[in-house]
Amino acid sequence: MNRHLISAGDLSKDDALLILDTAEELARVSERSIKKLPTLRGRTVVNLFFEDSTRTRISFEAAAKRLSADVINFSAKGSSVSKGESLKDTALTLEAMGADAVVIRHGSSGAPHRLANWVHGSVVNAGDGTHEHPTQALLDAFSMRRRLGALDGRKVTIVGDVLHSRVARSNVLLLHTLGAEVTLVAPPTLLPVSVHTWPCEVSYDLDTVLAKSDVVMMLRVQKERMNAAYFPSEREYSRRYGLDRARFAKMPDDAIVMHPGPMNRGMEIAAEVADSSRSTIVEQVANGVTIRMAVLYLLLGGETA
Ligand code: CP
Repeated sequence: MNRHLISAGDLSKDDALLILDTAEELARVSERSIKKLPTLRGRTVVNLFFEDSTRTRISFEAAAKRLSADVINFSAKGSSVSKGESLKDTALTLEAMGADAVVIRHGSSGAPHRLANWVHGSVVNAGDGTHEHPTQALLDAFSMRRRLGALDGRKVTIVGDVLHSRVARSNVLLLHTLGAEVTLVAPPTLLPVSVHTWPCEVSYDLDTVLAKSDVVMMLRVQKERMNAAYFPSEREYSRRYGLDRARFAKMPDDAIVMHPGPMNRGMEIAAEVADSSRSTIVEQVANGVTIRMAVLYLLLGGETA
């Protein structure tokens, strides 16, 4: 495996399967009453978060601690970033404190790539702007594989605000590598202009795609990144692209529903669909710890599962 994890597109099929298989082994640790392994004792993992996060930040911290690493949590709020300190100087400060891995979330696409040029340790992208979120794609693939088995030939439909979604891009790249067939469904205004270069199909009509889907992954409408009107109203968006009870009923009986979180309940997904037994949303959070343990283990601690 590469020293860094910046893009899901950097992972070969063997790399991706190694991470998923290692996570499967490590999941057994998470089921024990004492959830700790000594594997990364003496290593330091820095969580460098310039953007808000609940799931990703907490799960990277839990993953590093379960592997016995020392963890330094850095949040831009309350740091010297507010005094104008640059990403490079912040990174070099953390490097001086002996970071073996830096997990970074940043509002700017490409920030983890820049960081990788400045530090000696491994860099893990925990979400950069609208670009990528590779560990989210890995935990999503892990969650699908646990429910459905191998992903070869599986039909995955990703619905909603693709334009602002780093989750969608990483999922398309990783799922294609793993042999799944991905269809993006969104209003034309919420698709990037380059989408025709992505290894997936595109549709504007959710109802025609649902019945053929093994997985329906709903994306959050990222209102905080919208500086214009991308759809007429929330009600209209929900009517055309929301997964409500009627649409859920059109899915095959064994198809699953996913969402990376946080959700806009009642907008892109109805509460009763999010809470149904065919929703993996809570599992995805638990699997996030396991996948991040596997990533840190393989980058810092070991070579094989
Ligand atoms: N899915 C995800 O990245 O959630 P957070 O923003 O809470 O980390």
